[in-house]
Amino acid sequence: MNQINQKSESAKYWEEHLESWEASAYFKEGQQKANWWDRLSTVFRGDAMYVRMQTALELLKPHIKDKTVLDVGCASGRFAFQMIEAGATKVFGTDISNEAVNLAKQRAKELNLQNQLEFSITDVVQANTPLQQVDIVTALGVIEYFDAKDMAAFLGNLRTKYILLDFPDLGRKKEFPTWMLRQVYIRVNKLPGVYLYSLDEFAKIAELFGFTNLRVINKNQFYYVTNLPE
Ligand SMILES: C[S@@+](CC[C@H](N)C(=O)[O-])C[C@H]1O[C@@H](n2cnc3c(N)ncnc32)[C@H](O)[C@@H]1O
Repeated sequence: MNQINQKSESAKYWEEHLESWEASAYFKEGQQKANWWDRLSTVFRGDAMYVRMQTALELLKPHIKDKTVLDVGCASGRFAFQMIEAGATKVFGTDISNEAVNLAKQRAKELNLQNQLEFSITDVVQANTPLQQVDIVTALGVIEYFDAKDMAAFLGNLRTKYILLDFPDLGRKKEFPTWMLRQVYIRVNKLPGVYLYSLDEFAKIAELFGFTNLRVINKNQFYYVTNLPE
């Protein structure tokens, strides 16, 4: 585990909240661990988190075979397991939540996949905390919690040529009812913040760390930023 001196705001929040969020986001496997507010969110969110993951996998499939991947904010490893099934040789997953990472490790062990799946705990916005060297980095539902300073620290920690990240597109503000609901969720749950970016704003930070030729893909109502070949 990396040395975590002072935990970031996103890390502090997610350490406490992740179990309930995952239980409600992936409700088809049972919602017992979700608090009442997250259960209510499921009513509005429906199966959107399944769609977000499935869509990301579809975008990755042409690129992932025999590649190494790091899934940042992997939670209990759901996406990492799917990427192995899709043909990646090795997937690393990292998250701030001790509990979630332990669960992911346990699943990998039960499926005898420890050689292909490696999970660790990292606060990825701690500056100068280099992450695993891989071909592709993924992150779903993670970078929206990073302000510009955290974003720079995160991108500076990456050691990869390609990224595919669920993108907190500024355009989402125009989806007014969804945006309003999000604001209520943020306040009720005391979430530190959700930061939306235009592609230009994000690209300006990302190019400092060598990520160029970025584009936003809008598919199945989700946005992803990537530099994977077209
Ligand atoms: C909304 S959840 C998404 C989980 C998973 N990627 C998914 O789509 O199901 C956000 C995840 O990012 C992780 N996370 C947030 N801030 C982080 C940080 N600073 N370092 C590492 N992980 C972080 C949380 O612990 C949580 O697992």
